Formats: sequence, structure tokens, C-alpha cells
Amino acid sequence: VLNDFWYVAARSAEIGAVPLARTLLNVPVAFFRTATGEVAAVRDLCSHRGAPLSRGKVLADRIQCPYHGLQFDASGRCVHIPNQRTIPASAHLRAFPLVEQLGIVWIWMGDPEAADAAAVPLTPWREGAEWNAETTYYYHVRASHLLMTDNLLDLAHVAYVHAGTIGFDPSRLERDPLVTEVEGRRVRNTRILPDVEPGPVVRDWGAFTGTVKRTSISEWVPPCFTFIRFVNEDAAAKVEMRIDHLITPETDRTHHYWVLVSRNFRIADPDLTRRMYEDNDRVHHEDVAIVEATQRSLDGCPDFREMSIAQDRGLNAAHRILAQLATSSAG
Ligand code: FES
Ligand SMILES: [Fe+2]
Repeated sequence: VLNDFWYVAARSAEIGAVPLARTLLNVPVAFFRTATGEVAAVRDLCSHRGAPLSRGKVLADRIQCPYHGLQFDASGRCVHIPNQRTIPASAHLRAFPLVEQLGIVWIWMGDPEAADAAAVPLTPWREGAEWNAETTYYYHVRASHLLMTDNLLDLAHVAYVHAGTIGFDPSRLERDPLVTEVEGRRVRNTRILPDVEPGPVVRDWGAFTGTVKRTSISEWVPPCFTFIRFVNEDAAAKVEMRIDHLITPETDRTHHYWVLVSRNFRIADPDLTRRMYEDNDRVHHEDVAIVEATQRSLDGCPDFREMSIAQDRGLNAAHRILAQLATSSAG
């Protein structure tokens, strides 16, 4: 796991007066929000006897352990031990740098000296007045985060896994090849289908009656982010969506998966927002289901070695970038 990156920890609304327990990168973390609204994250393991602080109470600017009442501030410093004046240095806890931005709380689990808030991935379309960015999803997925990354870099699955939702006729894959570009550490997959029958969900978004030009540009950014631009247009209408897929490893075999959907059409239409929420939720469940099933079948075959097909160019490029990052962070 690559530690020196910003990862998504939570949606802002999840962190309030009651502490939140969440394991990220194999580390249990307790999140809380102080009375002044600041978010805080400390190791969810009390320095005294190891109780989970996330089961404790938030008192103004501190969190109190549920077991014997030790109190810690947002920086992890132990500030109170019942019936004791001196606080030994060993009482302090590890705290994690956080950045709260556009409804998302980002966490830095690596070397705190290297945490640079300017390196948090930006999603500027989520604050533009011409966009509706209300729709966000969270899934807990019982599979390695690498399998979900593979799914997102692999646009060949769309025609099959999503046949009933956002898919298209699989024979189109032969005529309209995928363009894969690698720019530094980014991998971009572009597929333009100039004249395609839209799936039922897409048909509804643009009130399309015939075929459309379908453009999907998927940009993968290490360690675990995929930003997708999805445009469907005909002579009468053009609808664009931004779908931000943000993954955070939980354990080696499980991950957290957030999807943020923004759209620039019919933005003040709450019925469409609700319908789109449901439609996209079905699409994401299709991905979660195939990825979890793949993890289960891989678990049963430890000797399995995968093979590549032509469609896997983007995925292979990302694997090379991840391997380089892993080597440089180990060295
Ligand atoms: S375990 Fe937390 S105060 Fe004792
Ligand atoms: Fe998918």
C-alpha cells in the first residue's frame, strides 16, 4: 500500500458529534469533529490499554476514551488522565493530517512531514454553478482495491457488465478502438462511439430518440483515483457527466469506494436527481458484484496468473506506474 498520498476518509456529513470508526490502509482510525467544527483523526487505539476511542465521547475539543477516561485533543496529545498530574509522552496518540474540501474529508496516512494540502486531488466541477454535484455514493467492497482500479481502467467491461444500464452493443468495440495515452503518472483511456444506440438510462438523460455520439474519457491518477468524463450528444442535445471514483484501501482484501457524480444538464430537476441516483447505484452495484466475485474466485486459486488482451493497455500502463511507485517508496 502506498502511504504517501492523500486518500478519501469520509464524506463531511459522516463526521459529527459522535466519533466515526474507520479502518484505512490497515490502520484503525477514530474521526471526530470538535465543537468549533474542525475535523480530527487519531489512531483508534487508546495508549492506555488499547480500547477503541471511537466508542468514546467528544467533549468540546477532545475525545474521551470510553474505558478509563483519558482525553486526547485533535493533535493526538493526551490532555487529561483522571487522578494524575503528569502526562507521560507515551500517552500521546498518532494523529493524521486532514483536509476538508467540497464535502469530502481527505486523510494523509504517510509521513506527516510530507503532507502537502496542495496535493489533494481537485474536482473543480463540483463547485461550479452550472453543475449539480448532489449525488454521492459509498460502497464497502469485499475485494482488493487493485481489482476495483482494474475495473475502472478497463472500459471493455462496460458492454458486458452494464448491458442493462449504460452499456452498448459489444460489436462496437471492434470498430471503435480505445485510445490509451500515458502522461507522466496519468493514464487516459478515450473511447468515442460516433453513432451508437444509447442504453435505456442514457436515453432518458438527454431525451434522445435516435443514436448518439458517446464519448468517454477516463483518467486514472495514482494511487486509486479515476476521473471520468461521459458525454452523450445528438444534434439536439448534449449531456455531460463527471464521475469521480475515489478508492481507499481498508485492508488488503477490502476497500472503501466513493463515487461522486456531477452533471451539467437539468440540474434543478429533483426527479432526475433521484432517478439518476437509482440508475447509477445499479451501475455501481454491477461493478461491485463482479469485482467481489472475481476476488472470491482468485482467493480459491492462489496459483492463478492473469493474461492480457488488447483492451488491457491502460490497465497494464497503470500497473507499471504502481509498481514504480511501490519500488520508489520502498527504497
Ligand atoms: S484504555 Fe483508554 S483510558 Fe484506559
Ligand atoms: Fe463498470
